[in-house]
Amino acid sequence: MDASQLIAQQLLADPRVAEATRLLQAAVTEHAAQLTARPADPQLAEELQNHLNEYANLRGNPLFFPYLGSGAGRSSLVELADGSVKYDLITGIGVHAMGHANPELIAELVPAVISDTVMQGNLQQNAESYKLSRELVALAKHNGAKLDHCFLSSSGAMANENALKILFQYRPGSQRILAFENAFAGRSMVLNQVTDRPKNRVGQPQTIAVDYVPFYDAHADAGVDSLHHSLRVLERHLQRFPDAHCGFIMELVQGEGGYYGAPREYFIALCSLLRKYNVPIMFDEIQTFGRTLQPFAFQMLRLDDYADVVTVGKMTQVCATLFGEKLNPKPGLLSQTFTSSTTAIVAARWILRQLTTGEFYGEQGRIAAIHQRFASRFEALREKAPEKISGPWGVGAMVALTPFDGSAEAAKRVLHGLYDAGVIAFVAGQNPARVRFLPPFLSITDEEIDAACDIIDDVILALPRED
Ligand SMILES: Cc1ncc(COP(=O)(O)O)c(C=O)c1O
Repeated sequence: MDASQLIAQQLLADPRVAEATRLLQAAVTEHAAQLTARPADPQLAEELQNHLNEYANLRGNPLFFPYLGSGAGRSSLVELADGSVKYDLITGIGVHAMGHANPELIAELVPAVISDTVMQGNLQQNAESYKLSRELVALAKHNGAKLDHCFLSSSGAMANENALKILFQYRPGSQRILAFENAFAGRSMVLNQVTDRPKNRVGQPQTIAVDYVPFYDAHADAGVDSLHHSLRVLERHLQRFPDAHCGFIMELVQGEGGYYGAPREYFIALCSLLRKYNVPIMFDEIQTFGRTLQPFAFQMLRLDDYADVVTVGKMTQVCATLFGEKLNPKPGLLSQTFTSSTTAIVAARWILRQLTTGEFYGEQGRIAAIHQRFASRFEALREKAPEKISGPWGVGAMVALTPFDGSAEAAKRVLHGLYDAGVIAFVAGQNPARVRFLPPFLSITDEEIDAACDIIDDVILALPRED
């Protein structure tokens, strides 16, 4: 029996499946073509508000934005339940990089929808889970990183939890972890401690000891002082607690911390010191993956030699922990009911295929062009109104600006002003609080970027400096 004799293959080859796929794709494309940016309908807005009030009651807290999607969209445009159509430049904080209702992806997902199970997991993986693992490892190893293994999971926090379990088992007796100041690592009981946000720890027990190292500061004497300061702090931690650290968890572009990057030499200096003390290095690429000038930020920075453990998530739909042979844990440490849904796994494979076959990366790639388009618009706005907006403008398809004086209130006013005017963005960082954008870079057109930037200009120019 060869594979073509499997019932599953015969089902997929059934002409009715191809026809249904074609019809679905055509219907979605046709309806989505009608979408243009527009304000809310007052009657639907009232209904939405009632639903949101009830939802807030059910959740215990309101949503940040009055957002309930209708289920329709096209690229960066998304229709909400109040009838408004907005430019979604935050994409669920970086999840929907392919844009809304991507017709190619919808076609790809039909076999997943008619596959036998909704979810895949520890006892029931289908071929897609294995293929996704293989593709993630191949991409991660592309420039020589020694990342031979891949464990899939369904959230960024779980991918990071798995990474920490691997690191602790590899360094028995270690009790502590190193992280950057302003790190965000997730919201589990352990990751709440690593995440450098006091608010997230309120009422929580201390589950792990974290030693923080200040992240690169481009302003400090062209970065030189900053590098030396970080090195000094790191070495002090390493000497104060000998052999006590399971690893250093690093975001190579700070995400929730405010969209700041650092030069390669900065990371090389820190990683070399960590190597000297035999402390493993973990790159948390849950927000950066796909969005810098190479698929992995560690590839953009040519830090492949230092990648002991790497996590990805968000735009990959399925999250993953990648690790080298020497860190492979004993059986029993990693397992879970859900790997992810079959649709998410198939979507993940499709997304990786776009990244590897498209022209997204490098200085001349689409991501660099998208960044440049936003940056030049922000630069022009800054020239017009220097007291209202400043940089830096982020890295690659992680775009940001600092509004006004960088106060939390100023960022909030801009975010809500943008939302009401039809652009969805979100906050990142504190002191300064920044406005960030994670555009759907797989689908967004220059026209969409320009139209969204026109709205950003109007909103920021119209807002007074003070309340
Ligand atoms: C760098 C980083 N690590 C981990 C996480 C946690 O991912 P999740 O929210 O999927 O648990 C996030 C989420 O924002 C993140 O940005």
